[in-house]
Amino acid sequence: MKKIFLLLLMILTVSGCGSDTQNKPPAEPEKVESADKTPVPPNILVVYFSRTGEEYNVGRITKGNTAIVAEFIAQKVGADIFEIKPETPYPDEYELCTEIAKQELESNVRPELANNIENLAQYDTIFLGYPIWWSDLPMIVYTFLESGDFSGKTIIPFCTSAGDYMTGKETAIPNHATGATIREGLGLKGKRCQEEPAAVKKDVDAWLTGLGY
Ligand SMILES: Cc1cc2nc3c(=O)[nH]c(=O)nc-3n(C[C@H](O)[C@H](O)[C@H](O)COP(=O)(O)O)c2cc1C
Repeated sequence: MKKIFLLLLMILTVSGCGSDTQNKPPAEPEKVESADKTPVPPNILVVYFSRTGEEYNVGRITKGNTAIVAEFIAQKVGADIFEIKPETPYPDEYELCTEIAKQELESNVRPELANNIENLAQYDTIFLGYPIWWSDLPMIVYTFLESGDFSGKTIIPFCTSAGDYMTGKETAIPNHATGATIREGLGLKGKRCQEEPAAVKKDVDAWLTGLGY
C-alpha cells in the first residue's frame, strides 16, 4: 500500500513538474488588427496649369492662383504634384495673354507641352487644376489630357477665375481624357487665393472632406 502511494506521488510530481503551464511566461494578450493594417490609400496626383505675371484683378503675381490651390490639395491628401508647362510660355502681360488664348481657343489648337508625366500609370485619382480662360479650359490643358492614358482613372477638376464657379466645360473632360470619369469639382475666385489664402484653404479642406478625403 505504501509502495502504491509512493508510486502515485512520484507520477503526480513528475507530471506536475513537466507541465508546460508552470514554466511558460504568461501568454501575450491576443493582438487586435491595428490601424496600420488598413488598405493603402489610392495613389493620388495633383496636376495643374497656372500662370504668373500680370493677372486679372491681382496685379503682378509670382505664384499663380491655381498653383496656390493645387498646393493646398496636395498637402491635405498627401498627393504628388505636377505642373503643366507649355513649350512656349504665355506672356506676362495680361491683355496679350488673353489675345493669344483667344486665338488658341478659336482655332482649337493643342499647344506643345514642355514636360509630361512618365509615371501616370501609378495614379488612380487625379486632381486637375486650371484657370478659366475664355469660359473654357486653357488649350494646353487639353493637350495634357489628350497625351496620356487615363482609362480607369478618376479626375477631380478644380479651377480659379474672376468668379467662384466652374463653367460646365469640365463635364467634357472625359471626352479628352478617354476612359476617365470625373467627380464634382470646385471653382474658386482667383483673387481670394492671393488675398485670403487661409480662408481659401478652409474652403478647399471642406470640399475635400465632402469628397471623403
Ligand atoms: C487668357 C485669360 C482668359 C481669362 N478668361 C476668363 C474668363 O473667361 N472668365 C473668368 O472668370 N476669368 C477669366 N480669366 C481670369 C483667370 O481665370 C483668373 O485670374 C485665374 O484665377 C488665373 O489663375 P492662374 O493665376 O492660376 O493662372 C482669364 C485670364 C486669362 C489670363
